Amino acid sequence: MGSLQKLNQYFKKYTGTIIIGSLFLMASNFFLVWSPIFLRRTVDEISQIQKPGSASTFHNVFHVLFTSYASWPIAKNALLLIGVVVLSGLLLFATRQTLIVASRKIEFDLRNDVFDKLLALPQRFYTQYKSGEVYVRATEDVTKVRDYFGPVYMYTINTITRAGFIITMMIIVSPRLTMWALLPLPFLSAFAYWISGYINDYSRIIQEQYSTIAGRAQESFSSIRLIKAYNREQYEQKRFDDESESYRKKKLRLDMIESLFHPTLNFLIGLSVVIVIWKAGELVIDGRLTVGNIAEYILYVAYLTWPVASLGYTVNRFQQSMASWKRIDEVLTEEVEIEDKAHTNQNIKSLEGGIEFRNVSFKYPGTEEYALKNVNMKVEAGQNAAIVGRTGSGKTTLVELIPRLFDTTEGEILIDGQNIKTVPLRLLRKNIGLVPQDTFLFSDTIAENIAFGTQEATKEQIEIAAEKAQVRDNILDFEKKFETMLGERGITLSGGQKQRTAIARALIRDPKIVILDDSLSAVDTKTEEAILQHLRNELKGRTTLMISHRISTIKDADIIFYLEEGTIVEQGTHKELLENEGRYSVMYNKQLIEQELAELN
Ligand SMILES: Nc1ncnc2c1ncn2[C@@H]1O[C@H](COP(=O)(O)OP(=O)(O)OP(=O)(O)O)[C@@H](O)[C@H]1O
Ligand SMILES: [Mg+2]
Repeated sequence: MGSLQKLNQYFKKYTGTIIIGSLFLMASNFFLVWSPIFLRRTVDEISQIQKPGSASTFHNVFHVLFTSYASWPIAKNALLLIGVVVLSGLLLFATRQTLIVASRKIEFDLRNDVFDKLLALPQRFYTQYKSGEVYVRATEDVTKVRDYFGPVYMYTINTITRAGFIITMMIIVSPRLTMWALLPLPFLSAFAYWISGYINDYSRIIQEQYSTIAGRAQESFSSIRLIKAYNREQYEQKRFDDESESYRKKKLRLDMIESLFHPTLNFLIGLSVVIVIWKAGELVIDGRLTVGNIAEYILYVAYLTWPVASLGYTVNRFQQSMASWKRIDEVLTEEVEIEDKAHTNQNIKSLEGGIEFRNVSFKYPGTEEYALKNVNMKVEAGQNAAIVGRTGSGKTTLVELIPRLFDTTEGEILIDGQNIKTVPLRLLRKNIGLVPQDTFLFSDTIAENIAFGTQEATKEQIEIAAEKAQVRDNILDFEKKFETMLGERGITLSGGQKQRTAIARALIRDPKIVILDDSLSAVDTKTEEAILQHLRNELKGRTTLMISHRISTIKDADIIFYLEEGTIVEQGTHKELLENEGRYSVMYNKQLIEQELAELN
């Protein structure tokens, strides 16, 4: 049970609080057990005064309460009864304030651990798990594991101590009656176990159905332009209706099961009470028990019901907590293969930016085919290199290996002549400004989006970066300028504006290596030319890797690599490659003709 031990480690920090809470709970139950005793005494004293054939009941009660010699003992018992119940209630409040609060704190610790780990895990992990699954682990599963530290622990202690105290008292009064009174309780437990299991399973199914509906609705609304343009409203409506209908049916089924729960519970409790009255009645007639004992017993049975029912429920929640913990533990024990290890050279404090690939091959995790095969490539520090090739040839894959979003399957990558794995990861990534192929901007201000990769950037720095990426003028045209909100709560930038904002985000970090993955694809050739002129100046002195489908973009590069099916098949300057008359020149001529045709039209 190594895994459970690991979970129990989370208790450690709060041991003191948990012990105190447990003591409160035991004390609360201890005082609760006294209330049936005081009730019995009261009833017995009243019944002793009542002699058959005396005056009206009203007279007797009045007499008993205010004038008779019995008033003091009854008043005393009543006060004691109130006293123990209040005390027990106060202690229960203290219990919840300690145990449940501790469980919330543990939940907080656990969630932070899971989140830290998720952020540390490499890209590989995210290609293996769906983002929805990861999300559930960080949220719902953590909440379910909290149950283990909260309700599961609390109800277990509660059931044990309360049942212990109460059954002991019951046996002291009458072992035989105890046996009868307890008879229906195992059924109660079993029933609660069964029904809470059923409710849980069903709730999960309903939850999933709900997620489907929510996901579908979200998808519809975020693709609303497409839906309208393709006249798909009715189809979407129907799809949504079907899912909704299925949700309604499942929900009603659950409601029915839930509404069976309480009547059945009450029936079983009622059964216990009837048995007590019947069996105890016999004993009273025989003179072995008093009427007060019947009252006492009924209260015992009532006090036992909840802990006994909760036993079934607790077992169920425990099982669920464990299932969730298993999923979380999987994440926590997942290997973070890309991080600083023993062989990392912490003495490396800066990088020049020379990049070399030596016989690099790469397969995406879980796939059989090589996305890169035997890549050999050398880019000197400060050089301006370009990568071209047909779509799917492996360009994006190649550049993502440089900031170690993935590690190579075979071969090695060197930075300034040293294996990339010996370079501290933070330093490596700090020196790389990667502009990914699909631009992602956060629902935040433009300024925040540009400053994303920096600790703190001043307004000037943000504006300069925007200027370098040639997007400053566009931004200043917006009413709120750099404070303009993007995304769901704001405006949408055009494709080209987005790309340039992403370039500004990379440049503001002043990286030694700049990687532009098709980052100007959304602007027209003329604008691109203007941007490039500016960028060239800015990129001087930095190692640049530029991926593009347009040869016009990269023809001035110091060195061009032509990638085909994961392998570099040609390399050289634009001039050299044209003289070569290989694939590159075919691609170039094709684009030339396309351009001329476009100009004719
Ligand atoms: N996460 C992934 N898991 C599995 N295979 C992948 C993954 N990402 C890319 N691939 C595959 O790797 C190959 C190379 O893809 P890559 O994105 O590097 O091509 P590319 O040259 O950048 O194409 P494009 O010009 O269209 O951007 C493709 O066959 C692609 O299907
Ligand atoms: Mg790509």
